[in-house]
Amino acid sequence: TLIDCTNLFISPGFIDMHVHLREPGFEYKETIESGSKAAAAGGFTTVACMPNTRPATDNADIVRFIIEQANKHGYARVLPIAAITAGQKGEELTDIPALKEAGAVGLSDDGRGVQRADRMKRAMEIAKQYDMPLIIHAEDETLSGKGCMNAGEAAERLGLPGIPDDAEAVMVARDIVLAEVTGAHLHVCHVSAKSVIELIRYAKGRGLPVTGEVAPHHLLLTDDQIDPDNSDWKVNPPLRTKRDREACIEAFLDGTLDIVATDHAPHSVEEKQKPFTEAPFGMVGLEIAFPLMYTHFVKTGRMTLNELVDRMATRPAKLFKLQGGRIQPGEPADLTVLDLHATKVIDPASFLSKGKNTPFAGQKAQGWPVLTMVDGVVSFDAR
Ligand code: DOR
Ligand code: ZN
Ligand code: ZN
Ligand code: ZN
Repeated sequence: TLIDCTNLFISPGFIDMHVHLREPGFEYKETIESGSKAAAAGGFTTVACMPNTRPATDNADIVRFIIEQANKHGYARVLPIAAITAGQKGEELTDIPALKEAGAVGLSDDGRGVQRADRMKRAMEIAKQYDMPLIIHAEDETLSGKGCMNAGEAAERLGLPGIPDDAEAVMVARDIVLAEVTGAHLHVCHVSAKSVIELIRYAKGRGLPVTGEVAPHHLLLTDDQIDPDNSDWKVNPPLRTKRDREACIEAFLDGTLDIVATDHAPHSVEEKQKPFTEAPFGMVGLEIAFPLMYTHFVKTGRMTLNELVDRMATRPAKLFKLQGGRIQPGEPADLTVLDLHATKVIDPASFLSKGKNTPFAGQKAQGWPVLTMVDGVVSFDAR
């Protein structure tokens, strides 16, 4: 069958190295089926899913379960990121060779930081040996405490407990030191702060195998915009200051932050209706990442469309040695077809994700996926 792509743009399928698909254990928030459908609707052909499920993705059986579920539904390639420590409790290391053998593409305790340096150092030594990246959440929980938004002026004005950016920077500094002594690939998740960017610049300047990702919400939103009566604004790491946001933009444009990743974090409406101090952290991102990035980075002239495609497809494939990222003539493709002229108001009710939690609801965005194909098979078709 022929697909008419007149006036449409064909891109290699997007790769999101950071999503939460919630299965097993939190199927009311998302399943591998609903999450991979949302990925396809957002133009993503590959997503890497975080281990903070119940039970945590800390053994080979769960890694295989995730891959089987994803293959059964076929909406996207789903690459499990396995836990660094059993149950993400920060103590006992998982069996890294067995996790790799089962198909895990990286190691993380996302949703939590690995608090003990000795555990992280040992994990890096083994990960280096088995060529596994450490994909770190970077949070010193003794510094973030019970905070629910960025510490500083905005938090004081709202009377909400804050999370200082040093909670993030302290862990990144430690892990850069450990990456240097072990030689492991350290990938820093959801970078939100200028202080963290300075550390990544330092690491890259030393030639260390350190990479970084940035989420659309940290590129586009700041703490002074937070509506304390709407917990969809609550995310971890939190939205930070204008100065931090500007640093994220600059670092994304100059390549210090290598790739876009959404940290797609679906929660139920009931959970997000709780007060700001009690609601869970997280925002969904899969279905709006490209339109937001196209609208605010390409349409504004900050970067070209090809550069954005590089940061959302080609570069993640290269950094993590994944399939996809480019279209090979004559081969079944992972691709997405984009209508760059379409403008829509972001409406969570239309999301295929079970999660509707986004502070971007009601905003206009331009450039929407209309068809997605994984390994030559259509996974999403809005025509
Ligand atoms: O906002 C967040 N949500 N940050 C995290 O680190 C975890 C995630 C989740 O699992 O909901
Ligand atoms: Zn299913
Ligand atoms: Zn995280
Ligand atoms: Zn996450």
